[in-house]
Amino acid sequence: EKGGYDHFMLKEIYEQPKAITDTYRGRMLADEGIIRMSGVDDNLQKFLNADRIIIIACGTSWHAGLVGEYLFEDMARIPVEVEYASEFRYRNPIITSKDVVIAISQSGETADTLAAIKLAKSKGAFVFGVCNVVGSSIARETHAGAYTHAGPEIGVASTKAFTTQITVLSLIALKLGEEKGTLSKNVFHTYLQRMQLIPGKVEELLKIDKKVQEIARVYKDATNCLYLGRGFNFPVALEGALKLKEISYIHAEGYPAAEMKHGPIALIDENMPIFVIATNKGHYEKVVSNIQEIKARSGKIIAIVTEGDTEVKKIADHVIEIPETEEALTPLLTTIPLQLLSYHIAVFLEKDVDQPRNLAKAVTVE
Ligand code: F6R
Repeated sequence: EKGGYDHFMLKEIYEQPKAITDTYRGRMLADEGIIRMSGVDDNLQKFLNADRIIIIACGTSWHAGLVGEYLFEDMARIPVEVEYASEFRYRNPIITSKDVVIAISQSGETADTLAAIKLAKSKGAFVFGVCNVVGSSIARETHAGAYTHAGPEIGVASTKAFTTQITVLSLIALKLGEEKGTLSKNVFHTYLQRMQLIPGKVEELLKIDKKVQEIARVYKDATNCLYLGRGFNFPVALEGALKLKEISYIHAEGYPAAEMKHGPIALIDENMPIFVIATNKGHYEKVVSNIQEIKARSGKIIAIVTEGDTEVKKIADHVIEIPETEEALTPLLTTIPLQLLSYHIAVFLEKDVDQPRNLAKAVTVE
């Protein structure tokens, strides 16, 4: 049932072009310039009148929520807070009926997320679910929602669930941006066209698997790694680090690139691999200067850049190119090589990729 792949995780990484397509199929009509999602359409006024959106989730789903924050604020100009479900529920949070809560969960069974939803509902908030598992507890407990349609995710480390969650959040942000007029018709249409090209670009990226495997071979014995990104790709840095920790048991930290100088720079020496996301539109010059600071301290740089990049190539130890797209959509691409990298490192280290120690696919206890 692994479809010829050695592990479910690899199969699920490779399923992403299809999974992303399944997520927007029937919802995004790029040529007509329409996004229709019944859970959003039926509650449009709630979304449009919201004072703010509160996103609650755990783990990888929380990282998708952070991407959502950047998307909603940028496209729909709605203030967003992203909360760990576990902290939210125990903090006596301020929630009103003017808040829209979006709960994100692959399994739909995460205990902390479920409890946070119940709390938000008791305070009168409208709660929208983004789940993968159809009919799950969270899908049932929320007022409305949108499934990710990623298909079953068996590997404990979440991969296609993450990119499809981001796809759903992008569709909602685009829809609200269009409705509110915070996105011009032109820009909205461009986004839909670009979104439609994403699965093909993910497909293209998967072809560099061998190259990523070679990089993994070089760094498999590292004991600490740093992941840096900015803007839309800051959450991707967090997710890259989480994937490495989960399946290879190598300590890794994700940071917003500019925070490096406020502490983690002290860790950098010639033994420290640093994965830097440096796409061409995302504060590129600033990230380039971060890379120079790392090189000056002999850190090893593995950079994820946009196709055709020349500047980072001159200074990085390794570069991985991603195809060009809108900056807001780059997380769907930059994530892919980081998933592959963690996978190959874990395989080299002979770890149990699909069933990492101490982890469960759905955390149904606090
Ligand atoms: C990461 C991972 C966990 C889950 C988290 C939330 O690879 O598997 O961090 O993302 O436990 O799970 P869901 O999304 O099912 O609520």
